Amino acid sequence: MRKKILIANWKMNSNLTDSQDFGFKLKNYSKEISSVDIAVCPPDVYLLTLVNIFKESNVLVGTQNMYHKEEGAFTGEISPKMVKDINAQIVILGHSERRQYFKETDGEINLKLKAALKHNLIPVFCVGEDLETREKGKAPEWVKNQVLEGLKDINSSDAEKIIIAYEPIWAIGTGKICSGEDANKIIKMIRGTIKEKYSEKVSDKVRILYGGSIKSDNFSEHIKYDDIDGGLVGGASLKYDEFTKIINLAANIKNTKVNA
Ligand code: PGA
Repeated sequence: MRKKILIANWKMNSNLTDSQDFGFKLKNYSKEISSVDIAVCPPDVYLLTLVNIFKESNVLVGTQNMYHKEEGAFTGEISPKMVKDINAQIVILGHSERRQYFKETDGEINLKLKAALKHNLIPVFCVGEDLETREKGKAPEWVKNQVLEGLKDINSSDAEKIIIAYEPIWAIGTGKICSGEDANKIIKMIRGTIKEKYSEKVSDKVRILYGGSIKSDNFSEHIKYDDIDGGLVGGASLKYDEFTKIINLAANIKNTKVNA
């Protein structure tokens, strides 16, 4: 049975005071939550502060990107070795904003995934189509290709450690939610792709999340599906009350799941 996970992606938001306040409150709240995993990915300048706050708690902390090299003359980048060095545990890779604004390619994302795995960081590998691709009916094919390109030359014992986040670009930050039914279809397809490439054992283990305009008043539509193992939450994860409401939805879903 896969444990659900809710990951906060703060993007380039928050500040030191708010990050700390959020951290202390979430640490306290997380003491009552054992049925789901929780992770927070702040901007890098607040990473160490949050790692320290969440020490001896079950909340994971991570970064929103990193370079694949270990060190060197790469001005402005941070390395997997550094992320590991400060005891962060998780890293979002291939987010659509990285792909769109910073021109990250499938090949680079593949290198980053391998680097994260090598350093025992949990990669959250993001995939998702834009509106035009969806409207042409090509979303499954597009996403399948992103998954296969990202996982190139990654073996099954590493693959099962990866978390995949399906985030349709047209649903990110737009308030336009991809319905639970539609998200579940793509997520099932991704699981099928993992099964084809590796095995049923691996596809049963890999957690696959939905992301895109998740809020406490729409996420029960998604989290009820057996194949949707949680959420990558952007805007709504900046508000403590809203984020914890979303976590509560996942923590309380146990008996009402549908395997459609
Ligand atoms: P959103 O962002 O929840 O603000 O749509 C999700 C994401 O980009 O990870």
